[in-house]
Amino acid sequence: MPTYSSQFPDPIALVTVATKTRTNVMTVGWASPVSSKPPILMVSVAPRRFTHDLILEAGEFGLSILANDQKKLSELAGTLTGSKVDKLAKPEFETFDAEKIRAPLIKGARAWFECTLHSHQTVGDHTVFYGAVLKTRVDETKSPLVLFHRRYYALGEERGVYP
Ligand SMILES: Cc1cc2nc3c(=O)[nH]c(=O)nc-3n(C[C@H](O)[C@H](O)[C@H](O)COP(=O)(O)O)c2cc1C
Repeated sequence: MPTYSSQFPDPIALVTVATKTRTNVMTVGWASPVSSKPPILMVSVAPRRFTHDLILEAGEFGLSILANDQKKLSELAGTLTGSKVDKLAKPEFETFDAEKIRAPLIKGARAWFECTLHSHQTVGDHTVFYGAVLKTRVDETKSPLVLFHRRYYALGEERGVYP
C-alpha cells in the first residue's frame, strides 16, 4: 500500500548544519518554499534525526538542492547517521564555505540556500523548521534530482511555461 507522502514528487536536498563542535549532513525530500517576501523555506525533520537538535543548537542551516547526477549523496546522507559517522568526512561529499552561515554547502548541486532559523513547529511526527533565506545561489546548468514513489528521477520533457 503506497503511503500518502510517496505520491508527492520531492526535490531531493541535503540539509547541512554546523554547531561550534559538530558538522552534519542529512537528506530531505520534505523541503519547500513557503514565503516569497520575505523568502522563507521549510524542511521537515523527524526528532530522532541527529540533525534535528543540531539545527536547534546552531540556529541556522544550509540547504543544497541536489543535481540529478547526485543520487549517491542522497543515499549516503539519508541512510547513515551523524551520531555514528562523520558523513561530511567521506570523500563523496565535496563542500564549499557558505557566506552567511557556519555550515558548508554541497558542491555540484543545482541550488543552495543559506538560512537562519526563523521558527519551528512540531507537526505530527516531524518538526518543521522554517528558514529565513539569507543567500541563494543557483547553477543553471544543473537540473534537480527528484524522488517519486520511492524512485529517483531526472526531470522529463517540458510541457509548457508557467505564465
Ligand atoms: C530520499 C530520502 C529522503 C528523506 N527525507 C527525509 C525528510 O524529509 N525528513 C526526515 O526527517 N528524514 C528524511 N530522510 C531520512 C534521513 O535523511 C535519514 O534518517 C538520515 O540518516 C538522518 O541523518 P542524521 O541522523 O545524521 O540526521 C530521507 C532519506 C532519504 C534517503
